[in-house]
Amino acid sequence: MAEKLADLSPEEKEKRIAEMKAKMQAAAAKSKKASSGEAAVKEAAAPAKQARAVPAEASPAVAAAATDKQVSAQPAPAVTTYGAGSNGAAGNGAASNGVASNGVASNGGAAAVSAPLLVAPPPEIAVETPEQRAKKEMNRREFLTYTWGAALGLLALQSGVGIFQFMYPRFKAGEFGGEFLLGPVAALPPTDAAPAPNTSGKFWLVNTVDEGPKALYMVCTHLGCLYKWAQSNNRFECPCHGSKFSREGFYIEGPAPRSLDTFLLTEADGEIAVDTGKKTLGQPSADSPARAVPV
Ligand code: FES
Repeated sequence: MAEKLADLSPEEKEKRIAEMKAKMQAAAAKSKKASSGEAAVKEAAAPAKQARAVPAEASPAVAAAATDKQVSAQPAPAVTTYGAGSNGAAGNGAASNGVASNGVASNGGAAAVSAPLLVAPPPEIAVETPEQRAKKEMNRREFLTYTWGAALGLLALQSGVGIFQFMYPRFKAGEFGGEFLLGPVAALPPTDAAPAPNTSGKFWLVNTVDEGPKALYMVCTHLGCLYKWAQSNNRFECPCHGSKFSREGFYIEGPAPRSLDTFLLTEADGEIAVDTGKKTLGQPSADSPARAVPV
């Protein structure tokens, strides 16, 4: 720059120096303006802060603004402002947004005018009384209690059903405890034939004149011995203690307390079936029609 100035003529040097001075003066004036603008902002902000602190003596807008600020401190403030205020810079600054800088920027400082404030009412907050809360808690507790009870009851029911199904005896057909198919009715022995043993089903099959076919349980009703058919005497005789039963299974004599037990015998579609899971106890020996010595 020095060399360039040295190369210039005296007139040009003076001209160039004058231009530089003008630029420097313009820059100084610009910086001065900027500093004075910041001071104005601070001045405008100070009244706004004061307005927030003034509760009742201030103008209605200020009071409303202060009240609104207190309300806005609650969880749902919902303070809505429309337009600018008319009671001075401080009031307007506080009422518009509660921020001094915003008030100055939006309303141009101290000469702003405030409009009536439209403040949304605060939301109504339902306050539960301790009784209501206790009642609600009790209902929830009852609900949980009932739910747990129902769940436990259902679990117990399922467990009970499972155990019952597991423990309940199940017999297949042709297995003692189950059903035995004996064929058509025409295949039954005659009424004067000797009883036919069925060792798998543990019964004697006998066809009688008065009661039709019967399935007599092979176990003695006294103490559980296996009685035999005595063809020569045409009766059943127990080898253990001498109890005797007629061909039809009625008690004749001996220590047996009752006649022979029988299994359920049914006829369906011409087929005879004996259910060894369903036993009928014989009538008491005193009531037996075949009793040798009447009581
Ligand atoms: Fe048959 Fe005693 S067991 S008489």
